[in-house]
Amino acid sequence: MAALKPPSGAPLSTLAYSAIITERSATGRQSADLTRARPKFDVRKLSFWYGKSQALFDISLTIPERSVMALIGPSGCGKSTLLRMIAGLENVTRGEIAIGARIVNSVPPKERDIAMVFQNYALYPHMTVQDNMAFSLRLAKAPKSVIDARVGRAAEILGLTQLLRRYPRQLSGGQRQRVAMGRAIVRDPQVFLFDEPLSNLDAKLRVQMRGEIKDLHQRLQTTTIYVTHDQIEAMTMADKIVVMNSGNVEQTGAPLELYDRPANLFVAGFIGSPAMNLIKGRIEDGAFRGEGGITLPLPDGAGAVGRPVIYGIRPEHFQIRADGLPATVHVVEPTGSETQVMAHLGGMPIMCAFRERITAGPGETIRIAPAPGTAHLFDLATGQRLSG
Ligand SMILES: Nc1ncnc2c1ncn2[C@@H]1O[C@H](COP(=O)(O)OP(=O)(O)OP(=O)(O)O)[C@@H](O)[C@H]1O
Ligand SMILES: [Mg+2]
Repeated sequence: MAALKPPSGAPLSTLAYSAIITERSATGRQSADLTRARPKFDVRKLSFWYGKSQALFDISLTIPERSVMALIGPSGCGKSTLLRMIAGLENVTRGEIAIGARIVNSVPPKERDIAMVFQNYALYPHMTVQDNMAFSLRLAKAPKSVIDARVGRAAEILGLTQLLRRYPRQLSGGQRQRVAMGRAIVRDPQVFLFDEPLSNLDAKLRVQMRGEIKDLHQRLQTTTIYVTHDQIEAMTMADKIVVMNSGNVEQTGAPLELYDRPANLFVAGFIGSPAMNLIKGRIEDGAFRGEGGITLPLPDGAGAVGRPVIYGIRPEHFQIRADGLPATVHVVEPTGSETQVMAHLGGMPIMCAFRERITAGPGETIRIAPAPGTAHLFDLATGQRLSG
């Protein structure tokens, strides 16, 4: 419970509540004022250094107005740094950030009309949940009726109604995280920046909150950047996903584009769970010959004869087929909806996920083949996609 700063590091601008949206519609839901600006967002060739160490390398992104962009990538890849720059908490020394048509490089945080939920959210320890959530609106001198309505509605969405009189020390980590979200929601900003807002919640609450945030976005349509480690969260919530790695953007695209056509090995291995099988080998006589002596059909558009390549096949794209390759079952994991099988194919460990239930046990042989048109091919040296 460190900083005693408001969530964005600055008070709400009066602009932020000029278009009040607290009226309840006939269904009792908060209704959006769709004339309110929900601007697009551009990041152009943004680089950033912590001292001598470069954290971001020439990042360029466009977040269309009213959309949700998810930012994913391994720990330390620069996600929080990028969000902090967009919020105005770090100085831009190279590149540009534009909200709508306006370049905001030197616009102070409080004038950006952005609400950020930090990864290490800090609540005011001496204020109740109610007061924590109302803080920015009070600072902006919003009328009491507006404050009460907005805080009440946010508490309802976040399941905090019974906890409004408590202090942060009397809450669990997940409840505190929801209060931090509530603080952002009540402000109704033009842009939301969420840095892993659900990471402290248990699995069930996470799924529920994910639905609530999605529903909230459908109603308010606030342009949103959402950082998460959880790729299912990213895939289900975002219109577009940006995959980052070591301060670079590896690929940007719609969730299923990234799943169906990963641009390189990094994205191929990062998106999808269980992860894509990646098998080393080369192209010979119009087929893929893997280490361990297996031969697999080539995906369309794969040139690169003789070149060392990586063949990618997702666990769920293996099929049981009488004419398939023999694979020795190692471990069988039934999850109910599917059966995950760790097996050895030509001596290499692979993972398969079948919709059907499998009776084979460890040590037995199953015959498997990639479903037609599902394989991927990557250049071994560059990691770039070769198949169409
Ligand atoms: N204040 C700082 N001073 C120096 N280096 C920093 C500072 N903050 C972050 N870094 C470094 O910058 C890089 C990016 O950090 P950042 O916090 O943006 O990563 P992240 O993608 O948000 O990671 P996580 O998923 O763990 O939150 C890391 O290598 C980190 O060690
Ligand atoms: Mg972070």
